[in-house]
Amino acid sequence: MTDAPGLVAATTLLEAPLVKDRDAGSMQRQLHDRLKRAILDGSLAPGSRLPGSRALAEALSISRNTVTATYEHLAAEGYVQPDRQGTRVTELSSPALPARSDRPSRPARPARAGKPAATPPTAQRLAHIVPGASRAGQEAALRPGVPALSHFPMAAWRRSLDRAMRSASPATLGYGDPLGEPPLRAAIARHLAIARGVRCEPHQVVIAEGAQEAITLCVRLLSNPGEIGWVEDPGYRGAKAAMHAGDLRIVPLRLDAEGLCVSERDWQKHPPRLIYTTPSHQYPAGTVLSIARRLALIAQARHHGAWIIEDDYDSEFRHNGEPIGAMQGLVPQAPVLYVGTFSKTMFPSLRLGFLVLPEQLAAAVRAPLEEMLRGGHRHEQLAMADFIESGQFSRHLGRMRRLYRDRQQALRLALGKHFKVPHEIDGGHCGLHLTVRLPEHFDDRRIAADALRHRIAPSPLSGFAMQPTPSDNGLVLGYGNTPAELFEPLVKRLSQLARAAAS
Ligand SMILES: Cc1ncc(COP(=O)(O)O)c(C=O)c1O
Repeated sequence: MTDAPGLVAATTLLEAPLVKDRDAGSMQRQLHDRLKRAILDGSLAPGSRLPGSRALAEALSISRNTVTATYEHLAAEGYVQPDRQGTRVTELSSPALPARSDRPSRPARPARAGKPAATPPTAQRLAHIVPGASRAGQEAALRPGVPALSHFPMAAWRRSLDRAMRSASPATLGYGDPLGEPPLRAAIARHLAIARGVRCEPHQVVIAEGAQEAITLCVRLLSNPGEIGWVEDPGYRGAKAAMHAGDLRIVPLRLDAEGLCVSERDWQKHPPRLIYTTPSHQYPAGTVLSIARRLALIAQARHHGAWIIEDDYDSEFRHNGEPIGAMQGLVPQAPVLYVGTFSKTMFPSLRLGFLVLPEQLAAAVRAPLEEMLRGGHRHEQLAMADFIESGQFSRHLGRMRRLYRDRQQALRLALGKHFKVPHEIDGGHCGLHLTVRLPEHFDDRRIAADALRHRIAPSPLSGFAMQPTPSDNGLVLGYGNTPAELFEPLVKRLSQLARAAAS
């Protein structure tokens, strides 16, 4: 043996005997793992020579064949290379084992030359996505956005699933139409025309994994990095996350009693490529975008070559007055991408939503969509089509509309009676939540954090704003999944917590 550094390292490394134990694996496996680890962590330096097979076999009391077979295996994988003098460790660019860290990774800026990154390098744009309220306790009381899960007609849904599975065949186990199962797209187009005044043909409907994926698709299909996306402020965090991930420059726009406020100056100063809005029930403030503003927004978007993403997430549940039709159907060929979801009308884990493409766009994005999407969850999609076509969906919606109307009224009453803090109630005329605005000196984030300890999960209004003003302070209360008889004790508790969080 020579005293080459690699050889010394190998000898040290191999001092411990290999174990004869079935659980530890064969001698060859153990030797292979040890050598591989030593090469990857650098203790066997690139270019150093491995011990001769006879010497190593003797040192470890194993057969020479085992050592030769292990060297051959390592050579086949590229860790070592045989040459005339023996077997050398290959020059690998850097140790491939990750540094151990118990901390969760955060997006990091690229490390300066010579300095290793503290956290794994992810896209810089992800650093703009800040975590929102805790997702723990989805079933906690008053959590916004959750429908009445215990009222879901499980038996009827099971029948639709059964029917979809009965028509399953080897062919339906393969990839489906990337844009979604045709029967579901047709059922959605029919339903939207009646329920929401949306004008579309089935070929314009794209099935997505919830509204969130539909919004992400809009960003991917229609914008370039660095372009501008308008959002409502306060507004839906998921839309902002999708725009950040698409590297858009986000411009938050304020709201008033008529919804999103857009001035001529906004169009001149920061003309958008995308405009995200929840016109029929602003999330979270609850306002309705007036008809004058809808028409103006459509006209200006057309003029400036911008696209409007209309997120119609919970408008099926209108509690007062006439239903408010979708923006999409207001004028022919509106530059509007209509986004809908079954998360509120069915249940969130179904992960089914949809995008309605404007006619003038459908053909242009078909090919990219076919390459980007794969067409899965076919049987759930067919079951959903069956649920709609069999009338179960409308029946369920009717029942839920009555339930949510009652819960909304009961929550208003409970707030009036037991919320002993100055406040104003916004929205609640539609959907599953209402918003209670509080004076500035009540810390809405602290109230929400304290409430979570009592298994109550309101969202702090300030958490939805990019540029919070004093009026963006309050609590967003979801009444969808909380029985009305609990409202009085829950509101009493919130009232105590709010008073404790006043400065
Ligand atoms: C404004 C808004 N849009 C869409 C969604 C639904 O998203 P998804 O269909 O991805 O569950 C939510 C859910 O809370 C929402 O609040």
